[in-house]
Amino acid sequence: MNKHVVLYKKLSAPLMERLQAHAEVTLIDDPKTQEGLARLRDALPQADGLLGASLKLDAPLLDLAPRLKVVSSVSVGVDNYDIDDLTRRGILLTNTPDVLTETTADTGFALIMATARRVVELATMVRNGQWTQNIGPTHFGSDVHGKTLGIVGMGRIGEAVAQRGHFGFGMPVLYHSHSPKPAVEARFNAQYRSLDALLQEADFVCLTVPLTAETEGLIGAEQFARMRPETIFINIARGKVVDEQAMIHALQTGQIRAAGLDVFEREPLQADSPLLQLDNVVATPHMGSATHETREAMARCAVDNLLAALAGERPKDLVNPSAWKNT
Ligand code: DGY
Repeated sequence: MNKHVVLYKKLSAPLMERLQAHAEVTLIDDPKTQEGLARLRDALPQADGLLGASLKLDAPLLDLAPRLKVVSSVSVGVDNYDIDDLTRRGILLTNTPDVLTETTADTGFALIMATARRVVELATMVRNGQWTQNIGPTHFGSDVHGKTLGIVGMGRIGEAVAQRGHFGFGMPVLYHSHSPKPAVEARFNAQYRSLDALLQEADFVCLTVPLTAETEGLIGAEQFARMRPETIFINIARGKVVDEQAMIHALQTGQIRAAGLDVFEREPLQADSPLLQLDNVVATPHMGSATHETREAMARCAVDNLLAALAGERPKDLVNPSAWKNT
């Protein structure tokens, strides 16, 4: 019998053709609307595989999918899934690491540059016809090269940020992670710090940790209080790693200088968010991996993982290996 795959994200024509050569495919490209969700619920009972992103696949949805063998997420982050529940059900979960590492680190650096040099604020001034004389100190930014870069979370993306900072901008690199990483220290001349020490010392604090029970709310009022008025805070991880109210307070009161934010507690960010009233905030729409090349590479990787799992092979990017034993 043909395998049945439910897509809740559109694929490029070549990837769709590849998938259709191996399975019957149902596409639901609007799973967050009521109508789309209803169609997803209708399709789940036949699904052997699911592929998509940015949707919370909760237990009531999974209960509708008794045949499901694999969920292939087009993301590196897996915070939308209850991994233990999937494992208990014997459902494989796969993600798309590696292919988005460099692009996401580029986004981190775009935010570092944009905040420190006030790119968005000053470009808006020019666009609005307000550039009427040579700019002076009230419009000056701060240097990036040579400043201390503090990276919270030294996984693949953290390393790619460190690489840019060390080799490209001559920045001393500090990092905090579960445990020290000697190879990273040797490569980027990086130094391990406790979280508190990093927050105090770094000129740029860049979050790259995954969202887990352990990292939720990691940066709150107490942590912002440890930063300095010169500190620039960058979040390319997940919004919920940060207490957004505490961050807004730190930005409004000058406890920190600026923030470059690609992720938020609630996405899309509401138009009336106080963050959007602040000139010292650069807010982008969760675009970390959003280039044509990288999004296609992620989708290809997700299709590879899905097809491997449906063929009974162990997928390359298996998040829950214990579910593999269960199958
Ligand atoms: C990821 O891949 O996790 C990106 O943040 C997109 O969600």
